[in-house]
Amino acid sequence: MNITKLTNAFREIFDTQPERAFFAPGRINLIGEHTDYNGGHVFPCAITYGTYAVARKREDNLIRLYSVNFPDKGIIEFDLTQLDYEKKHNWANYPKGMIRYIKEAGFVIPSGFECLIEGNIPNGAGLSSSASIELLTGVLLNGIFELGIPRLDMIKLGKKVENEFIGVNSGIMDQFAIGMGKKDAGILLDCQTLKYEYAPIQLEGYKILIMNTNKRRELADSKYNERRGECEEALSQLQQKLPIEALGQLTEAEFDENQTLIANETVRKRAKHAVYENRRTLKALQELKAGNLEAFGQLMNQSHISLRDDYEVTGVELDSLVDAAWNQPGVIGARMTGAGFGGCAIAVVENEEVESFIANVGAVYQGKIGYQADFYVASIGDGAKEIQMEAFE
Ligand code: GLA
Repeated sequence: MNITKLTNAFREIFDTQPERAFFAPGRINLIGEHTDYNGGHVFPCAITYGTYAVARKREDNLIRLYSVNFPDKGIIEFDLTQLDYEKKHNWANYPKGMIRYIKEAGFVIPSGFECLIEGNIPNGAGLSSSASIELLTGVLLNGIFELGIPRLDMIKLGKKVENEFIGVNSGIMDQFAIGMGKKDAGILLDCQTLKYEYAPIQLEGYKILIMNTNKRRELADSKYNERRGECEEALSQLQQKLPIEALGQLTEAEFDENQTLIANETVRKRAKHAVYENRRTLKALQELKAGNLEAFGQLMNQSHISLRDDYEVTGVELDSLVDAAWNQPGVIGARMTGAGFGGCAIAVVENEEVESFIANVGAVYQGKIGYQADFYVASIGDGAKEIQMEAFE
């Protein structure tokens, strides 16, 4: 991303000079999928793709936002005292919701501001462009108005925007990864207690590839909420006998012994995924710490199979990509990442094989699905932060 380009765009749109610059990344999840809202563990990391903003304060109460990615939407304008969701405000509802909840949390935003943003996260790819905008808004307001919002509060407010302002019942993983990310580290997060630890990701000789299905995730939100409902149903049936608060508290053996408490077979499969995936995530951290990359990859593969067969959130596009990835030389592991229903998968691939991997998997996918997949090499980067106006590349 180029500061001069963003500054020039700001000047062109708002006819004045921006004062400060901010960045919030996207995220991938290495393993631990659909476990966050089940009180389990996740293992995501922030990536160097993300969303950039340049901004300046205004004297009045107007908030004026412009996205280089959505030029047809023009400048979206609203008043600091009018912060209701409005469909016509489109992408700007994410910053708007964030501004609203930051205010409601008692932080005083003294005036409006102007802000131009540009993201390089592939759009709608399930790499959390929305959480990226939420945290971007958080660090931006913190920066230009010196609000002193603690990072964890900002993360929780981002989740609240998703849940209450937008209406997606998502967990805390995305906002946490984007708020707390650290260069070259994964974050093992216990979503029940919010205890976390950083684990260095040293994949000597390997790269993490992001593979985008380019499938539009149309029903993603409603199906997501449906899965969440199924897990709640399973939990309440298990609670007839077990003193648990979340599926993440169960071991595989405890689940197996008690699974007949869950009446419906589909619901039982959903719960099985949540329990087993949580345990896989803990094992994955151990394998990584021990330098057992092969074993780590096996757990990634098992994660995908469970998401495909038990949780049923993959679909032919993700399955085709991951299946093709498994068949390539030099692949340690591959799985879907994020909510599923389209979006992206990741693969850990030997450096020397990356080029042929992309060519081969790309060809198989195109042949089977009829349109192209996109591939990106992921670098693990820092969480949301202010950046120096002079320093961005
Ligand atoms: C989406 C949600 C997260 C998480 C994942 C699935 O990314 O926003 O909270 O539930 O799906 O692991």
